Amino acid sequence: MGDRVVEIKKGLEDVFVLETKISSIDGIKGILEYRGFNIHDLLHLSYDAVSYLLIHGKIPDEKEISAYSHQLKKDRGIPEEMIRVLHTCNFNIEAMDALRTEVSYMAHCDPDMNDNSYDGNIRKGTRLISKFPTIVAAFHRIRNNQEIVAPDPHLSHGANFLYMLRGTRPGELEAELIEADFILSAEHELNTSTFSTRVTASTLSDLHSAIISGLSTLKGPLHGGARMAVMEMLDEISVPEHAEEHVLNLISNKQRVMGFGHRVYKTYDPRAKISKELAKKIAEEKHEQKWYEIAQNIENTVNRELVEKRGKPIYPNVDFYAAVIYRYLEITPQLATSVFAIGRVSGWIAHILEQYADNRLIRPRAKFVR
Ligand code: ACO
Repeated sequence: MGDRVVEIKKGLEDVFVLETKISSIDGIKGILEYRGFNIHDLLHLSYDAVSYLLIHGKIPDEKEISAYSHQLKKDRGIPEEMIRVLHTCNFNIEAMDALRTEVSYMAHCDPDMNDNSYDGNIRKGTRLISKFPTIVAAFHRIRNNQEIVAPDPHLSHGANFLYMLRGTRPGELEAELIEADFILSAEHELNTSTFSTRVTASTLSDLHSAIISGLSTLKGPLHGGARMAVMEMLDEISVPEHAEEHVLNLISNKQRVMGFGHRVYKTYDPRAKISKELAKKIAEEKHEQKWYEIAQNIENTVNRELVEKRGKPIYPNVDFYAAVIYRYLEITPQLATSVFAIGRVSGWIAHILEQYADNRLIRPRAKFVR
């Protein structure tokens, strides 16, 4: 058995393991589609509508979106027991860790705890989408010794999150930006965290357990945790004039520039292109160019040193300009990955449901070597 010749693809690079109807990526042309719709064309929709599209496979009509949004708004609150759990958390952790704990606890409180039918999972999934922003905002406020802010049913998914987080209603552009960020973060084919949710679902474990796998995997700095790392890099650089030297040091020490590079995109990530434009817009509106300029200087240096001089396709990925936008929205680094998860959870749910619908246990092999 040990002598069998097998091809090993480290990191499963370019290995296709399943078919999906949920999204597709063209890593050469830089195109991302959700259910056949280019992401550029989905930005005029609400996050509610995009999450519906991902989970149900169609853009909702007026009646459908009205019922779905109503349910999402109704489910936004979190029970007293979940708030108590947040109070017991270590406040030095990232919000991501609190979110993971809460999802685990939430599974115990869910009225459909033992119902793993399609309908039961849709109800549980809707509650997860609704409550993620509330959990993250509540943890942030408890940690900062502030009163928790109750959700406002008159606000969109994104605007309500900023309201619960900061205690004041966001401006129009801020609301537009956070909604766009949730949409751009929602889905990305078989990325590592989504794959991990499908692995867990393939054992026929429950929805909450699969989501916890996704959260645990998204947290790593090579994946969604890069968003926090970019924010920390922006802080460390602190003035645009220092960005070039910072990047040159990283490169000469053979360190990664966080928020750059991608396993699938060998060109500019289409999500980063959109976020960059939005970051520019908010920098102008807030008359605060600093963070945008630091980001531009980082990008220009990476482009000159890695793309032009060394021919490596290292472009900004989804996390880079998202981190810049978070800086303008007063989202702290400790919150960054959990804010990514607020968007991504609907993609995870869509994939878990797709896995259940046509399941085969995911179980690859490893070649034993001495
Ligand atoms: N900075 C500098 N060099 C880089 C970077 C980077 N960010 N990313 C890749 N490279 C270089 C590597 O050093 C390597 O060079 P070499 O061939 O001379 O050794 C080459 O590009 C290929 O790198 P791999 O690690 O083999 O590429 P892989 O596809 O495995 O990595 C990854 C993809 C993990 C995203 C990588 O680009 C990276 O570490 N980026 C920084 C972290 C990050 O931003 N992650 C978020 C990705 S998006 C998301 O998950 C939501």
